[in-house]
Amino acid sequence: MTTPMRCDILTLFPDMILATLGHSMLKRAQEKGLLEVRVRNVREFAESRHLVADDVPYGGGAGMVMKAEPLFRAVESLRREYQETGPGDELRLLLPSPQGRPFTQRVADEFSRERRRLVFLCGHYEGVDERVRVGLRPEEISIGDYVLTGGELPALVMIDAAVRLIPGVLGDPESAQHESFIDALLDYPQYTRPAEVCGLTVPEVLRSGNHDAIRRWRRKEALRSTYLKRPDLLRDRAFNEEDRQLLDDITREESREAPVKCTEEG
Ligand code: ADE
Repeated sequence: MTTPMRCDILTLFPDMILATLGHSMLKRAQEKGLLEVRVRNVREFAESRHLVADDVPYGGGAGMVMKAEPLFRAVESLRREYQETGPGDELRLLLPSPQGRPFTQRVADEFSRERRRLVFLCGHYEGVDERVRVGLRPEEISIGDYVLTGGELPALVMIDAAVRLIPGVLGDPESAQHESFIDALLDYPQYTRPAEVCGLTVPEVLRSGNHDAIRRWRRKEALRSTYLKRPDLLRDRAFNEEDRQLLDDITREESREAPVKCTEEG
């Protein structure tokens, strides 16, 4: 039995997380016992009577900053709770942040195999009190070079990318492995019924039943897609003989199909 990926999400907006966890693959993964997610409202760990978890920034400026103590208390409470259930319940603290280490397929794979609990500290508004970084030393992780309004969507993105790599989540245990980026190629095109849509047909080879021809076609189209859209992924890569031949064919085909530039007037 595969051990589930175990996540705790500390957030001021639990409903943002719960709404997404209740659907599709994330829901199925939980039902199959392959994913456990517990969502905690950080506000419950606020001290004041009004459960204030954010405040104005020292030095002035716009927006609100998430307070440090409620997050400290929330993490402390998780530590206390999980210590009771066994020594394997260590926490891996993660702080979604645009300043973090980039989240890639490699990190998703790492998360999918993680035995520790993944604890996502979701900041909101203008950021999180710096003492959260100093006091808890979480790993900062960024899902891209843009700024979102909080850590909830990044936490869900990371969980989604990781959970689908757990054997059994996608139904076909092989399907995740065949896909984009695992071996640093983009996907080959996929088709489903009907065989013709608005005059657009499915490549004949996919209906041929010839498994080797289908495998070769898919490999070629994955290479073509990568060559055209993300040539950087092909750089510094060792190719086997088949891939080299397929790439030769692709470069020839693509240069033939390049649009003709007309330089003459009229
Ligand atoms: N919080 C706000 N923006 C973010 C980003 N790009 N990645 C991770 N966490 C974030």
